[in-house]
Amino acid sequence: MMQADVLNAALKHRAARIEQVLDRLLPAAAAPPVRLHQAMRYAALGAGKRVRPFLVYRAGMMLGADETQLDAPAAAVELIHAYSLVHDDLPAMDDDDLRRGRPTCHRAFDEATAILVGDALQTLAFEVLSTASEHSAETRLAMLTALAHASGSRGMAGGQALDLAAIGLAIDLAELEQMHRLKTGALIAASVRLGALAAHADETTHAQLARYARAIGLAFQVRDDILDVTADSQTLGKTQGKDASDDKPTYVSLLGLDAAHSLSIQLRETAIAALEGLPQPEMLQQLAHYIVAREA
Ligand code: IPE
Ligand code: IPE
Ligand code: MG
Ligand code: MG
Ligand code: MG
Repeated sequence: MMQADVLNAALKHRAARIEQVLDRLLPAAAAPPVRLHQAMRYAALGAGKRVRPFLVYRAGMMLGADETQLDAPAAAVELIHAYSLVHDDLPAMDDDDLRRGRPTCHRAFDEATAILVGDALQTLAFEVLSTASEHSAETRLAMLTALAHASGSRGMAGGQALDLAAIGLAIDLAELEQMHRLKTGALIAASVRLGALAAHADETTHAQLARYARAIGLAFQVRDDILDVTADSQTLGKTQGKDASDDKPTYVSLLGLDAAHSLSIQLRETAIAALEGLPQPEMLQQLAHYIVAREA
């Protein structure tokens, strides 16, 4: 098999596992309040590349954690991510109709339900971590702190605020980078950190993995900006051309397609270099390749 095929098979395998874990953790659709629970399941189950859970699993397993110890942190990160997508798509934010190849949550249900879905997925993420009894209280606390920080105003939510504030403005490259690092990079970095925390990694390993995550986290959003221009809605599963039509500053609007692509390659190489000396880094290396070459 080609290395890309190995990675794709591994992504699929992890996606199937996280689907099962999420299915088990999410409240049953028949449990009241039924509409909210149906909408939470709609938003979190069924699709998505599951890149963040993959990072939790692979970073953790690379350092010796058992996959059963990684289910809770992987699910927690994906629940936060799913919540962020539901809110990102709301009319008050990006106002999108299509997500993961289906109507967005507020379209399939209604706006108030979508807001509550975000609230409830977010709190469920923290409940899943705080009750993960296979980890010591100390490890759980470290995971909770990392995920909370990455999700809040100094992480994803803060990046989303910068994103909305930048509409129609000519921001510079440093401002764009900061926005992307927060809105997307922070949760990707938290994914790697949670995996490493589950494996009780030492500080040097944490620092190495943080450098890797910082580079792929930015590369992930650079690629997202590129795909918004170059892909089609069906492949993307979300509406193509939305950044330009919303007058959002992106890596493509600031640098052009070619330079944005070159930057993503540079970030991929930075990420791969950061893994030097870690045990069995192949899967994370391949993921760095995937992130800048993906078509959706
Ligand atoms: C989309 O994330 C939002 C960004 C942070 C760029 P993904 O591209 O990981 O979306 P899914 O989870 O695969 O749908
Ligand atoms: C989203 O960025 C980042 C999030 C925190 C959800 P985008 O707004 O570019 O994500 P898409 O393109 O809608 O998936
Ligand atoms: Mg957005
Ligand atoms: Mg969006
Ligand atoms: Mg986008």
